[in-house]
Amino acid sequence: MDFHDRHDLTVRINGEDHRLPGLDPRTTLLDLLREKLALTGTKKGCNFGECGACTVHLDGRRVNSCMVLAASTDGREVTTIEGLAKEGALHPVQQAFIDHDGFQCGFCTPGQVMSAVALIDEGHAGSDTEIREWMSGNLCRCSAYPQIVDAVRAAAGAGRNGR
Ligand code: FES
Ligand code: FES
Repeated sequence: MDFHDRHDLTVRINGEDHRLPGLDPRTTLLDLLREKLALTGTKKGCNFGECGACTVHLDGRRVNSCMVLAASTDGREVTTIEGLAKEGALHPVQQAFIDHDGFQCGFCTPGQVMSAVALIDEGHAGSDTEIREWMSGNLCRCSAYPQIVDAVRAAAGAGRNGR
C-alpha cells in the first residue's frame, strides 16, 4: 500500500460491522473511533502511548488505540467501553468502579475499565501488587489508584468479569 493511497477498511466494532471506504492510511484507531464513528467514550490523553486513556480491546487484547493504525484493524474485532454493557446492564467491572469510587473526574476511567477487564481475563489480578503492576500503563491524574485497585480486586474476586 502506498502511504498516500486511500484505504478501504472493514472492521467489527462492538459486534457491528463497519465498512469505511477511502480512509486516510495515517488515521489511528483512536481517531477512527472518536472522529469518524462518534465513539467518544475512548479518550485521547497523550496521543503518544503513555497514558492508557485510549485503551480498547483488539481481538480481545488490550491496546493503546492511539498507537494502532486503523488500517491494521481490517477484518479484526474491536471492543470499546461502549460495547461492555449488555442489555442495559453495566459490565460487572464498570459496576465495581462505581461501587468502590474508582474515579474522580472520570477522564481516565474508560481506559482503566478496559484494562481491568483484560487483566482479569489474563489472570493478572491475583494480588494487589499484581493488579498495580498490570494496571501501571493506565495513569490517573486524580490519583484514584487505591480505589481502582479496590474495584479490580472486587470484580476479580467475585468472578464477575462478564464473560
Ligand atoms: Fe493513547 Fe495516551 S492517548 S496512550
Ligand atoms: Fe480523573 Fe483518573 S479519575 S484522571
